[in-house]
Amino acid sequence: MKILGLSGSLRQSSSNMAALRAIEKLTPKNIDFKISIHIDQLPHFNPDLDKEDVLPSNVKIWRKELAEANGYYISCPEYAHGVPGVFKNALDWVVSSGELMNKPIAFLNASPIVKASLSKTLTVMSARIIETASVDIQFLRNKVDKEGNLHVEEEISHALETSLQVMIREIHGK
Ligand SMILES: Cc1cc2nc3c(=O)[nH]c(=O)nc-3n(C[C@H](O)[C@H](O)[C@H](O)COP(=O)(O)O)c2cc1C
Repeated sequence: MKILGLSGSLRQSSSNMAALRAIEKLTPKNIDFKISIHIDQLPHFNPDLDKEDVLPSNVKIWRKELAEANGYYISCPEYAHGVPGVFKNALDWVVSSGELMNKPIAFLNASPIVKASLSKTLTVMSARIIETASVDIQFLRNKVDKEGNLHVEEEISHALETSLQVMIREIHGK
C-alpha cells in the first residue's frame, strides 16, 4: 500500500512539508509513505503538450507517481486567498489522465479558502475527499522548529494517528 504526500509549498523549510513528514513518521511500517518531490519539476500546463506523443517526461514521472499511490495527503498553504499556482498547475496536468479518480485524499492544514477551492478541483477529477481523515493544524508555521520538525499538541498527534487509520480503511474500501 502506498500513500503519497503532496505539499503545496516548495519552500525549503516549509511548514506544510513538516506536517507531511510528521504524518510520514506515524505511518505503520508496512505502508510505504512518500512525499512527492516532482511538483516543482513540472512545466506550465499546456493542453497542446497533453498528448501522448509530446507529453513532457517530467509529466510522465508525475503521473506514474500518482498512479502508483493508493491514497494521498495534501498539505497546502494559502497564497493571495487561493491555491498556490504551482500546486494547481500540478493538478491541471492530471485532469485528463485521471490518476486521482476514486482515490481517497485527506487535507492537512488547508485553510477554508484552499480547502474549498481544492475540494472543487479534486471533486471534478473524481477523487474522494475524506473529511474524517483531514486534520486542521492551527498556527502550523509556529509549530515547526529550526530543523523542520513539527511539534504539536497531544490532541493533534492523536488526530494524525486517527487520520491514518481512516485513510487506510478508505484505501481498503471499508
Ligand atoms: C505570496 C504569499 C501569499 C500569501 N497569501 C496568504 C493569504 O492570502 N492568506 C494567508 O492566510 N496566508 C498567506 N500567506 C502565508 C502563507 O500561507 C504561510 O506563510 C504558510 O506558512 C506558507 O507555507 P509553508 O510554510 O509551507 O511555506 C502567503 C504567503 C506568501 C509567500
